[in-house]
Amino acid sequence: MKPGDGRGPAGSSLSQGGSGPAGSSLSQGESGPPGGSKPGDGRGAAGSSLPQGGSGPAGSSRSRGGGVGRGYRIALIGGDGIGPEVVREALKVVAAAGVPIEVVPYDLGADRFLQTGEVLPDSVLEELRSLDAILLGAVGPPIGSTLVPPGTLERGLLLRLRFELDLYINLRPFTGLPGSIAPGADFVVIRENTEGSYAGEGGFLHRGTAQEIATQGSVNTRFGVERCLRYAFELALKRPRHDLTLVHKTNVLAFAGDLWQRVFTELSAGFQGVATSYNHVDAACIYLVEDSFRYDVVVTENLFGDILTDLAGAVTGGIGFAASANLNPARTGPSLFEPVHGAAHDIAGTGKANPLAAIRSAALMLDHLGELEAAQRIDKAVREELEHFAPGRTTGEIGDALAAQV
Ligand code: NAD
Ligand code: IPM
Ligand code: MN
Repeated sequence: MKPGDGRGPAGSSLSQGGSGPAGSSLSQGESGPPGGSKPGDGRGAAGSSLPQGGSGPAGSSRSRGGGVGRGYRIALIGGDGIGPEVVREALKVVAAAGVPIEVVPYDLGADRFLQTGEVLPDSVLEELRSLDAILLGAVGPPIGSTLVPPGTLERGLLLRLRFELDLYINLRPFTGLPGSIAPGADFVVIRENTEGSYAGEGGFLHRGTAQEIATQGSVNTRFGVERCLRYAFELALKRPRHDLTLVHKTNVLAFAGDLWQRVFTELSAGFQGVATSYNHVDAACIYLVEDSFRYDVVVTENLFGDILTDLAGAVTGGIGFAASANLNPARTGPSLFEPVHGAAHDIAGTGKANPLAAIRSAALMLDHLGELEAAQRIDKAVREELEHFAPGRTTGEIGDALAAQV
């Protein structure tokens, strides 16, 4: 067991997976809310943790919670490994918060692929477009599996959803938990979510031969970079510290980095209230570990954001607590909410998965849907839970405790 590997203190029963360094305890002190969406903290609309939070689902003709029918129609993709285990707890907590939802389950992931060869049928994608939001557990085969080729599910399902639904912001809030190496830290990483090396530019020549060439490009459009940076500036403006750090690698990635840096500088002129700085991504790793309090809002490109947010999760208490919102800020379709962590096959079926990342992701979903009061009640319950975090409980027991507290 490595400290901070997302599995909690050595010797514990691991049910608080993701709880940070060996020997740490989450039962002491206070912790902040997942999205920092405290009532009246001045972040976003009416206490929402999202810049556009609280304005309801896309399209005015949708069925809405508290409105017609059975409430919000939420697509549920449990997925693989611990995915179904943690989203079950998230739904439990949403139900306890009293938000009316109709869950539309989608059987997608490794099993479906192995049985039918399907990853994300076009018909399912079209259905998803009409729902209010998507809650996803995790997708992907066990590390080293040969049954499902690498990337089949990750690219074919999760990334396809991010691209097709134009979920161009990946918002990942972090709050340093008691017992972590950064108790009290409070920052948000805004990760560009549709471009960079994730765009899939590249290919093979002479695959499998001694002359093989593999290229993997990084796509950075002015449009994509600007809309991501603008979102980050707007978020920074709405948070109390008004501080934004661009993270890149301009000293080496001189083309993409130049575009990011230029647009960042240009936009900053229109956001005089936001203090800006720049860190190379390697140095940002040092600062995240040694001095994460320096960060308020961090904005970065897709791959750096992926890596930095696993690190941020470990630093702030463990990956089992880290939530994310894949947002379509224009609300031309549903946004997608999921833990930062993956399918964690190493602990699947053991009851050791920490459901708090999924529960916090569900709170971000409610915030996005405009259910601010319910989102805040879940945040508060999570805060209270972390103040008195009792180790040794199962995934279901933690979910039950949260459901009882909201
Ligand atoms: P992982 O995040 O699944 O696991 C990394 C480590 O963190 C493991 O030790 C795991 O036990 C631990 N961990 C993760 N979530 C936890 C939780 N809720 N509670 C306690 N401990 C937790 O990363 P990986 O092992 O690199 O990936 C496994 C599979 O998941 C791969 O197929 C990968 O592609 C996929 N993946 C999917 C997503 C997603 O769907 N969003 C994200 C990351 C990885
Ligand atoms: C994440 C995951 C995904 C990513 C994978 C599963 C495609 O690691 O959401 O952080 O790399 O974005
Ligand atoms: Mn990741």
